[in-house]
Amino acid sequence: MNALIQTQQRDTIFEIIFNRPDKRNAINWAMMTALDAAFDEAEKAVGVRAVIIRGEGTGFSAGIDVTSFIESSSHFGDNWRENLFPLTAAYQAVTNKIERCSLPTIALLHGYCLGLGFEIALACDFRIAAVGTRMGLPETRLGIIPDVGGTTRLTRLVGAARSKEYVMTGKNIDFEAAERWGLLNRVVTVEDLLGAGEALVAEIAQAAPLAVQYTKRVIDGMIDVERGLQLEGWAQSILIRTQDFEAGIEAMLTKQPPQWKGK
Ligand code: COA
Repeated sequence: MNALIQTQQRDTIFEIIFNRPDKRNAINWAMMTALDAAFDEAEKAVGVRAVIIRGEGTGFSAGIDVTSFIESSSHFGDNWRENLFPLTAAYQAVTNKIERCSLPTIALLHGYCLGLGFEIALACDFRIAAVGTRMGLPETRLGIIPDVGGTTRLTRLVGAARSKEYVMTGKNIDFEAAERWGLLNRVVTVEDLLGAGEALVAEIAQAAPLAVQYTKRVIDGMIDVERGLQLEGWAQSILIRTQDFEAGIEAMLTKQPPQWKGK
């Protein structure tokens, strides 16, 4: 089976696997809707204590499929760029679903975890990374901002000053620093990554399922992400129409430095 998202239940673990390794697990809209459906499946599965999300191939995910902007018209109408709000809301709804999943969620990161891939990891309860994983939100280097909850959730996790440094520059976050800040729960070798995820599920499974579920709701409920998500959508609705966004995409695809115009 070569579905873009694979799912499997192994005892108490429900696994969701990005399965587009030839495109470095770059996420297009079809993959995003499959991810959404995978979480519905996880909620219905019997005997599950946690969800593990991981990537097939050399990394977790290279972020949004930048070529998929072309196909936006067929899903969000010819006017999608002039009225970005429905598109942003549709993408945000998927990361919100991940955050609101009644089961604990663990992202296992290796290789690279960039842009939308990192936003998905930030919506999970726990992140475990392999040594050397390149993590970050490079959107500002494309002339846009992380608008699928990344700006809001990174700020929630590491504080405003660190979040501004990494979102404004778009540079990668050092995984050792990320562990110190609590952004990563653990850093392990790539060989130990799956085992570390399974060990965490085994620990969680010793606690009562409902107590775990309510703990998640209480801790997430203490911080309101809704206002941040609305602000992300507002900012992106402006940035998506700029010439700088076109220059950023062109630069990424051609691997050349962008020529910013400031408009
Ligand atoms: N969107 C669309 N296609 C992507 C992609 C993305 N975000 N990231 C990688 N790909 C595609 C490449 O175009 C290439 O396709 P091709 O084989 O048809 O030419 C294929 O995946 C392999 O990419 P390549 O760059 O050769 O792989 P690599 O192993 O050398 O590097 C990465 C992997 C993740 C470091 C690199 O692909 C990368 O930096 N990607 C862009 C990350 C990014 O800026 N994401 C956007 C965030 S907003």
